[in-house]
This record gives sequence, C-alpha cells and structure tokens, in this order.
Amino acid sequence: MAASLAIASSALSTLYRIVVYLFLQVAPVSKAKYVIPVLYLGYALASYFGAPAFSQVIAVKEEVVAIEQEKSERNGHVVTDVAVQETTTIIPVVEPPTLKSALSAIIFSVPSPIRALRTTNFVINTLLLLAAVEFVFYPYFDSASDVVYTRVGALYPDAVKIVVRYPAANSTENLVRVVWRQADGKNDSETPWREGPIANLTAERDWVQSVSLRGLWPSTSYEYRFEDLNSTALPYPTTPIQFHTAPDPRLHSGSHYRFIASSCMTPNFPYMPLQGRRIKGLDLLTDYLWPSKPHSTAPSSAVAQNISDEDMSMSTSPVIQSVNDTSAENVTAPANITTAVPAPEKSVPPTAFMVFMGDFIYADVPIYFGDDAEAYRRLYRRNYNSPSFRKVYERLPIIHTYDDHEIINNYAGLGNSSLPPYPNATNAFELYNADANYDPIEEGQYYYDFRYGDAAFFVMDTRKYRSDIFSDEPSSHTMLGDKQLTALYNWLGKVNNTAVFKFVVSSVPFTALWTYEALEDTWAAFPYEKSALLSAFQSVPNVIVLSGDRHEFAAIEFAAGDGGHNVLEVSTSPMSMFYVPFIRTLKPRSEEVVNRTREEVIIKEDGNMEVVKHVEEVPREKVLKYIAEGNYKWSTIEVDTRDYAHPVVRVEIMIDGKPAYHLEVLGKPIKLQSTTALGALVPQSLRGMLDRIGLKPSRWF
Ligand SMILES: *[C@@H]1O[C@H](CO)[C@@H](O)[C@H](O)[C@H]1NC(C)=O
Ligand SMILES: *[C@@H]1O[C@H](CO)[C@@H](O)[C@H](O)[C@H]1NC(C)=O
Ligand SMILES: *[C@@H]1O[C@H](CO)[C@@H](O)[C@H](O)[C@H]1NC(C)=O
Ligand SMILES: *[C@@H]1O[C@H](CO)[C@@H](O)[C@H](O)[C@H]1NC(C)=O
Ligand SMILES: *[C@@H]1O[C@H](CO)[C@@H](O)[C@H](O)[C@H]1NC(C)=O
Ligand SMILES: *[C@@H]1O[C@H](CO)[C@@H](O)[C@H](O)[C@H]1NC(C)=O
Ligand SMILES: *[C@@H]1O[C@H](CO)[C@@H](O)[C@H](O)[C@H]1NC(C)=O
Ligand SMILES: *[C@@H]1O[C@H](CO)[C@@H](O)[C@H](O)[C@H]1NC(C)=O
Ligand SMILES: *[C@@H]1O[C@H](CO)[C@@H](O)[C@H](O)[C@H]1NC(C)=O
Repeated sequence: MAASLAIASSALSTLYRIVVYLFLQVAPVSKAKYVIPVLYLGYALASYFGAPAFSQVIAVKEEVVAIEQEKSERNGHVVTDVAVQETTTIIPVVEPPTLKSALSAIIFSVPSPIRALRTTNFVINTLLLLAAVEFVFYPYFDSASDVVYTRVGALYPDAVKIVVRYPAANSTENLVRVVWRQADGKNDSETPWREGPIANLTAERDWVQSVSLRGLWPSTSYEYRFEDLNSTALPYPTTPIQFHTAPDPRLHSGSHYRFIASSCMTPNFPYMPLQGRRIKGLDLLTDYLWPSKPHSTAPSSAVAQNISDEDMSMSTSPVIQSVNDTSAENVTAPANITTAVPAPEKSVPPTAFMVFMGDFIYADVPIYFGDDAEAYRRLYRRNYNSPSFRKVYERLPIIHTYDDHEIINNYAGLGNSSLPPYPNATNAFELYNADANYDPIEEGQYYYDFRYGDAAFFVMDTRKYRSDIFSDEPSSHTMLGDKQLTALYNWLGKVNNTAVFKFVVSSVPFTALWTYEALEDTWAAFPYEKSALLSAFQSVPNVIVLSGDRHEFAAIEFAAGDGGHNVLEVSTSPMSMFYVPFIRTLKPRSEEVVNRTREEVIIKEDGNMEVVKHVEEVPREKVLKYIAEGNYKWSTIEVDTRDYAHPVVRVEIMIDGKPAYHLEVLGKPIKLQSTTALGALVPQSLRGMLDRIGLKPSRWF
C-alpha cells in the first residue's frame, strides 16, 4: 500500500510538473485551472501518506560486537575480560545519495528515503503552484486602478484623437485640458502652448476619455501635454507626447510609410516569475521601431519572395502565375561581407500607426473573472500599465478592432447588443480602445473606414452581427450583418478608383484553409457571405486582407478567374501569446479551383506570331508562406506608391524579433479619381452594389 502510494506520488508529481510547464510556457489552456490543483493535491496527499513507507524499507541489522578488554597484568595473570555485548543498530540499506541519484530523485520525483530530497520535491512543486497562481491571479492583485496614461489613436489630415486616463483622488471628476503646439524639430520651447479640448474624467467612466484635437495641418508634427484648468502643467507626461498628422489625401503625390499589424497579447506569457507587467512582444517591437543601437542595414536570414503578379500589374493579359517562385531571392548580402560595396541604404519610411486586430485582452484565458464591468476594465488597465506597452503607445498611434477574447471565446453576437456579456465587455473596449478609432461609418458601430495617404482601410466588426452557425440554414448565416456588408460594398465601390491599395482588416482570417476550431470561428464558417465578398474584392484592384487570431503567420493568395484581380491575405499573430506546437493547422491549398486562361506567344517558322490560349485550373486559395512557430509576431507593411506606374507594398514578417519572411506585392497602377466626384457612383443599397458588380447572391438573403 505504502509503496504504491509512493509510486503514485512520483507519477502524479511528474504529470503535475509537465502540466504546469505546458500551462506556463506552451499554452495557458483554461482547463488547467482544474487539473493543476487536483494534481498538486493528489501529489501532496500521496507523498504525505506514502512517506512512512521509507522507514520500513530501512533494514534492521543485528550485530554482535565483541569488546575485548585487555587488562593489565595483575598478579602475574593475564586477565582477559571478554565482554560480549549484543547491540542492535539500525542502518539504512540505502547508500548515501550519489549526485546522480539525488538529481534523478528530484527531476523524476523518484521516491526517496532521504527527507531532504522529499522536501526539495515538495518545495519545487509548491513553487510551481505559486507560479501558476501568480500567472492566473496577477490581474486581480495588480488591478492598475491608478494607471495614468495617454495615447494617440486615429490620425486625420486635420485632426487627431487622444486618449487620456488621469484618476483623481477624493473626487468624482477630474477636468484635464489638452494643450498642444507644433513640434517642427526646432525644439523651440518659446512656442506658446495652445489650449485644446478638456477631458471630463469621471470614476463612472473609469477615468478614461478620448478627445479630438482639431484644426491641424496635414503631414505636420505636433506635441501635447496636459494642464489643469488653472493652466498648471500636470506631472504626466513628463515630456510632451509627439504625433504626426496624416497626409492630405487630395494630393496625389504618392505615399511612402509603413504600419504595423498584429493581434493577440497577454502580459507575461510565456511566464517568467515576478514579471507580471511585461509584454515581451512589445519590448521586441520597441527595439525594432526605435533601435537603441543602429541595426545592420538588412536582415540576413530572411527569405524574400516577390509576387510578380500579372494580375496586380499593368498587363491586361490573364494571370499566368501569380507567384514567381523561381525568382525568390535573398534581399540582402550575407552579413559577413565587409569588402563588398555596401548595399544601397534602404530608406526606412516612418511608421505611421499600428492596427491591433483584436484579442487585446484575454477576458477568459486562463480564467474568466466574470462579466461585470470591472473585470473587463481591469484587463485593459493592466495592459496600459505595462511598461512594455507604454514604450509603444506613447510613440505610436494605435487603432483597434476587437475579437472574441475581448468578450468571450468564439463569441457570436447575433446582432443583439444587450446579450451578456457583450454590454460590459464592449463598455471597456469602447472606453479604452474603440473611442479613439476613426469615426464609425454609423454612430455607435465598431466598424469604420479611413484613409492614410492614397491607401484606404476598412476595419470590420466580425463579432456583433455574427450568426450562430449551429442553428438555421448555413445560407442565412452572416458574419457582418446586412448594414455592415452594405457599408463594406459601398466602401469598395468608393475606393475602387480613388485609392491605390485597399486594406480590409478582419480580426479572423478570411481564408478557409485553417482547420480545427478555425472551421467554426473564421470566415470558413460563412461560405456564402465569404464567396460573395471575395468576388467583390476581386473586382477591385490591389485588395489586401489583414487578419490575426490564429497565433500563426500565413500569406494566402486568392486566385481570380479571367478578368478579376488576385487578392492577398496576410494573417499575423500573436503579438505576445502562445502558438500551437506540433500540430499544423493550415491546408496548403483549397480544393476549389478557378479556371484561368493563359496566353502563350509562339513564333512560328515563317516568323509569324501566334497566340495560343490554354485554360488551366488553379486553386482558389493557396498558401504562399506559412510559419506557425513564434510567440511574438507582427507584420510591417510598407506602402510605397511614389512611382505611379509601380505601386508596391512590401511586407516584412517579424517573428521573435527577427525578420522571418519578406513579400513584395506589385500593385496595379490606379489612375486616381478625385474622391469628391464619387458620391454619385455609390449605390445606396447593398443589392444595388451587388447588381453593379454582377452578383446575385439571392441565396444568402
Ligand atoms: C483623500 O482623502 C484621504 C482621507 O479621506 C486623505 O488621507 C488624503 O490625503 C486625501 N488625498 C488628497 C489628494 O486630498
Ligand atoms: C463631467 O461629467 C459628469 C458626468 O457625465 C457630469 O455630471 C459633469 O457635469 C461633467 N462636468 C463638466 C465640467 O462638464
Ligand atoms: C484653481 O485655482 C483656484 C484658486 O487659486 C483654486 O481654488 C482651485 O482649486 C484651482 N483649481 C485647480 C483645478 O487646481
Ligand atoms: C521570374 O522572375 C525572374 C527574375 O525576376 C524572371 O527572369 C522570370 O521570367 C520570371 N518568371 C516568370 C514565370 O514570371
Ligand atoms: C538564398 O540564400 C540561401 C541560403 O542563404 C541560398 O542557398 C540560396 O542560393 C540563395 N538564393 C539566391 C537566389 O540567392
Ligand atoms: C455588468 O456590470 C455591472 C457592474 O459591474 C453588473 O452589475 C452587471 O451584472 C454586469 N452584467 C451585465 C449583463 O450588465
Ligand atoms: C437580446 O438579448 C436580450 C438579453 O438576452 C434579450 O432580452 C432580448 O430579447 C434580445 N433581443 C432580441 C431582439 O433578440
Ligand atoms: C471597380 O471598378 C471596376 C472597373 O472600373 C468595375 O468593373 C468593378 O465592378 C468595380 N468594383 C466595385 C466593387 O465597385
Ligand atoms: C473549368 O473549365 C473546365 C473545362 O473547360 C470545366 O469543366 C470546369 O467546370 C471549369 N471549372 C470552373 C471552376 O469553372
């Protein structure tokens, strides 16, 4: 009995350690919150009751010890007293532990008769328990209720949105004025501050508020700080926060900037003891954006692939091959070549903003603290309290969308905004993240569009209107809902000829190639709506879909049939979270195919040319590149439309702080029309728009 308890203790202990390791380093699976305490308790009980077994293993050995006492010669006799004593000594059978046996006793929790080793095992397992407890309950104990911060959100050519959180002691409101001035590099402390809007911070709104600063010049640097109503500068921020307004989109002079796209983060995962505020992915992003020591000009390990996509190029002939795999070339010279002519200094354009594509908090991972407003707000405060994040948001404007973990796993809102926990979840999302986004297309909605230079963006809300895919007819399922779809189709029509690149931001992947749980949570679960949208995307040149959610990176190409335009999707996550080890969840291509006509020019013997047409089938969706590994991923998207005839988007995928993949997307030149003349072209209804592009998707209405 005791021996089997000892074995049970060892087995439980080993299993427990594996589970805790997986939980803290691989994936913080929610179920661990039951498994870990149970295993620990099981181990503790088994080891406590199994322990006496060791004293029985110790053998009792009898020894006869003869003590010979030689007495001194007495009266000529040699007297020898032989005293025979029988003693019983208890000697453990076990040898004193060798280093090896001690190590294995600790590593494998092998039952050991030595108390010190058993205690060591107990201490190790208890520390592991404390680590798990620290990880899980950190946000509860470090609720960041007094965090003070400010950040910039939406950037317009003439305005900017600023978020400020400034709690007041012993008061129910705190009035904070934004003061601002141009920061034209002269660092002129004489420039007077101008009074901006007043933020009315109240406890009811968790002391956070977004305000708009208007009347600014395009493409101009400004700085701001805060004052109280008596014009006394507030202690935070210690140095003014700087920002740069968006370019004037009416000037068709080409753009050159980059932005960051990623999603999914949880502080201190993978776990490190007593680092509860750290978000390592953002530390890496900080080093990348503002290196303290200049990096070598170019990455050496990255593999580049250029898309010489005839579809996205000027050629009117049908697409032959969208990815020129044979032309994959290494962008950089090997790092160790010093004598060679240095590569031309690649001019790094300014990073204008970051799009955070959801799962900014994990309300229900590893545990769900309930649906009250404070439980959600606490997790936002916690992120803004992170020194890792502070370094980023004080310098880089960030716009957001949400995904399921801002609410609860795989949330489908059914278009009902009073469905718990949606109201409390979105209250926090709104206060902390959404209020500083670009103005919504319709008041009170979370989807929005905006322009930056000559590129246009549409950011979807993939949660509020989502249908329950387990009920009703699949053809009636919707991801975006009627109104948002109309807005998206209208937007496509509007930007068709008024923006060069069109970025569509979806928190969940648009591709259906991701399997497992993705089949229920991504666009794969909405095949009808997706297929109609894809046709619309493919009627517009230069559409790029950005997504996150899968904790993996992939670039997907959606092939268009004759006359259409290929669409590219770049899905990048997590910013700082787990990735799925071992299992590969992405299919390389879809079974669905499209027909494309390939033209081949043959020069005949008589010197005449003949055009031969071939019809070939290509997969509708195809993976260009897939990288699953990496806890810290983001993509840097460089928009370069300075050369009107050769607009290009360069995508750099950064994984764990290193460049992992480069993709160059050659766009189709767009003869930009003025946006103002466009109103008349935009049909008012979704059906009208669909008719215009020749779609009759009666099936999903
Ligand atoms: C707030 O009130 C508490 C007690 O009511 C007091 O000790 C504290 O000094 C006050 N703080 C400020 C900033 O007035
Ligand atoms: C600030 O907001 C609170 C709550 O909405 C309101 O009662 C108060 O009047 C506002 N204060 C000012 C100065 O606008
Ligand atoms: C502004 O000054 C007045 C008088 O000097 C004072 O009563 C008031 O509390 C001050 N307000 C703030 C917000 O400091
Ligand atoms: C691929 O690119 C190389 C070099 O850029 C070019 O020579 C070749 O013709 C291209 N192949 C196709 C099929 O486009
Ligand atoms: C790219 O680099 C790899 C290894 O660094 C090398 O094997 C390959 O030949 C290079 N390709 C080209 C096109 O230079
Ligand atoms: C929302 O939060 C409030 C305040 O914390 C709480 O009373 C309420 O039960 C929560 N749930 C819903 C659905 O409103
Ligand atoms: C929305 O959800 C609430 C809360 O569950 C429910 O009372 C209400 O009837 C729902 N509204 C609709 C239109 O389904
Ligand atoms: C975009 O423009 C092209 C040609 O001008 C047109 O065929 C297509 O239907 C338009 N797409 C949308 C969504 O308006
Ligand atoms: C492609 O073309 C073949 C023959 O031309 C036809 O049988 C097939 O249905 C077409 N496939 C699609 C997806 O249009």
